[in-house]
Amino acid sequence: MFASKSLQLGAQAIKGLSRVSHFSRLVAPATIISRKPYFQVVPNIFHFCWLLFSTTATSSADEGNEEKEKISVTFVGKDGEETEVKVPIGMSMLEAAHQNDIELEGACEGSLACSTCHVIVMDVEQYNKLEDPTDEENDMLDLAFGLTETSRLGCQVIAKPELDGLRLALPAATRNFAVDGYKPKPH
Ligand code: FES
Repeated sequence: MFASKSLQLGAQAIKGLSRVSHFSRLVAPATIISRKPYFQVVPNIFHFCWLLFSTTATSSADEGNEEKEKISVTFVGKDGEETEVKVPIGMSMLEAAHQNDIELEGACEGSLACSTCHVIVMDVEQYNKLEDPTDEENDMLDLAFGLTETSRLGCQVIAKPELDGLRLALPAATRNFAVDGYKPKPH
């Protein structure tokens, strides 16, 4: 009786040991790679993966935001030549034109004292997305050469996300420029 009980206990102990060794085979690769206890390695791997993922996700998000902060605007010159430029949100079309060497005068530099920054919005739907012109802008527009239903002063058209794809035609002439031939240099 005593002998058979001892044999039974011995068999259970061997079974238990074999389970332990099976488990240690499973965790062995991780412990060998790092030379650290298993419970320290696993959180480190998760931390590394999180860092990798968050860095990649942040940089793609940044690129996306950068693109969203600019809109695409096409200036159509007097000769029909089209120039597409990227305009940062908040920038006026006059500034955008000057930055991209587009011939839009802007003699008063945006102080609503001339009509040399006259542009024609080519798409009525886009025109309707603009803020209404102020009385001062309307007064200056009345002096503009070749006024149309969708004319605006370029210094008063400010880039905003809804205006992405805006197309602006430059009129064939401007009044102030024709008077004395003075052509202000882009800033
Ligand atoms: Fe003179 Fe726009 S630059 S009104």
